[in-house]
Amino acid sequence: MKAPLRIGIAGLGTVGAGVVKLLAEHGRLLSLRGGRPLKVVAVSARRKARKRDIDISRVRWESDPMALATAPDIDVVVELIGGSGGVARRLVQTALRSGKHVVTANKALLAMHGTELATLAEKRGRILSFEAAVAGGIPIIKALREGLVGNRVRRLYGILNGTCNYILTTMRETGRDFGAVLAEAQAAGYAEADPSFDVDGIDAAHKLSVLTGAAFGAKVNFAGVHIEGIRHVSAMDIQFAEELGFRIKLLGLARETRYGIEQRVHPCMVPLAAPIAHIEGVFNAVVVEGDYVGTTMFQGRGAGQGPTASAVVADLVDVARGRQMPAFVVPAERLADKKVSPMDRHQGAYYIRLMVQDRPGVISAVSGALAKERISLESMLQRGRSQSGEVPVVLTTHETEEAAMRRALARIAKLGAVAEEPCVIRIESF
Ligand SMILES: NC(=O)c1ccc[n+]([C@@H]2O[C@H](COP(=O)([O-])OP(=O)(O)OC[C@H]3O[C@@H](n4cnc5c(N)ncnc54)[C@H](OP(=O)(O)O)[C@@H]3O)[C@@H](O)[C@H]2O)c1
Repeated sequence: MKAPLRIGIAGLGTVGAGVVKLLAEHGRLLSLRGGRPLKVVAVSARRKARKRDIDISRVRWESDPMALATAPDIDVVVELIGGSGGVARRLVQTALRSGKHVVTANKALLAMHGTELATLAEKRGRILSFEAAVAGGIPIIKALREGLVGNRVRRLYGILNGTCNYILTTMRETGRDFGAVLAEAQAAGYAEADPSFDVDGIDAAHKLSVLTGAAFGAKVNFAGVHIEGIRHVSAMDIQFAEELGFRIKLLGLARETRYGIEQRVHPCMVPLAAPIAHIEGVFNAVVVEGDYVGTTMFQGRGAGQGPTASAVVADLVDVARGRQMPAFVVPAERLADKKVSPMDRHQGAYYIRLMVQDRPGVISAVSGALAKERISLESMLQRGRSQSGEVPVVLTTHETEEAAMRRALARIAKLGAVAEEPCVIRIESF
């Protein structure tokens, strides 16, 4: 048996503790699979005295995580602290510069500095891997790097944030509104006290930008992601979606258009016939459409201790085996600086829900505003009278350009009979 792979773990929270547990519980199996033992030699976290449900009594404690990056008895540093800058970034940079391999679950760091860190790793001839950073336990990075590597990716999309999917699922099942379901999710520990990273789409956008880099051979470009969250989705829209044969999902989508790379995260109307419409609760899913393979879908748990530790340990076994592959599928210095396809150029169909004064002529004014932009209607739903005098009107359109839709909406919003800002959700066809 070869010498052990010596591991230093920075961060012993949900994920770090899971990795320690998994390595201990599956030690024999992993040394067989990795060709050598995987041995944790040192760990670091903020508070040494914190009670943790793991046995680290025989492992060195470093009060400064940076000590792991330079320790001569460590081969691979596992960064599980989090955050796009600060100590996590310094730790990864220093570890790579000191000749260590790095495994991380940190999507925020990769979204901001992925290309730079992959370049550094390659220059030093070291491995940088991050399976756990995207879709938790789903081995999607490996799939893009290995199983699907023969394909040109046509399109990629997925449910990349379990918190949003849980909230949307619960809203549909209970008919309750966003605020009430969010509060309940926070109480149950499915949503953070500050939920904005999740519900405003930022976390999904971090993951999408990493996936896009790996799928399209492009530099990671988080700034190029169009981001909208789920706060404006109402129980009423979820109900209308079902009536129209759709389910509302927060998706991250990426594809190459003739204008560049389009990356977008926003609520989508997904046809009920599409398998991804049925990924519910905290589950994640990623669909990759390749030119030779066709459509492939991966689903599983996108977060949590077990699934995330599973992905981190998969990367560690690769390091133990000495499998050195480009972090983003092609060598980092060959990653292309692709243009961002502007959202104004996005082509698609739309769902529009208006609250209008229930009086004659309103519908024809709304249809007139759409017709002016050559937007044709696919369907219209109008609900009966209400005491307030305002009624919902739901329109779905045929495919049009986003710029035209925005101009039409600006006109519609100015109509006296339109009571509040229109709710607009893009309709996807899969
Ligand atoms: N949780 C998930 O399901 C999940 C899924 C996929 C990816 N991730 C990613 O995995 C990473 C870790 O997430 P997590 O959920 O495990 O976070 P967490 O539970 O908050 O744990 C963070 C750990 O980092 C330690 N830490 C924080 N600041 C530190 C510092 N300055 N120096 C040293 N240690 C420090 C904390 O120490 P103390 O324990 O002493 O406070 C804690 O052990 C993040 O990048 C996250 O995005 C998480």
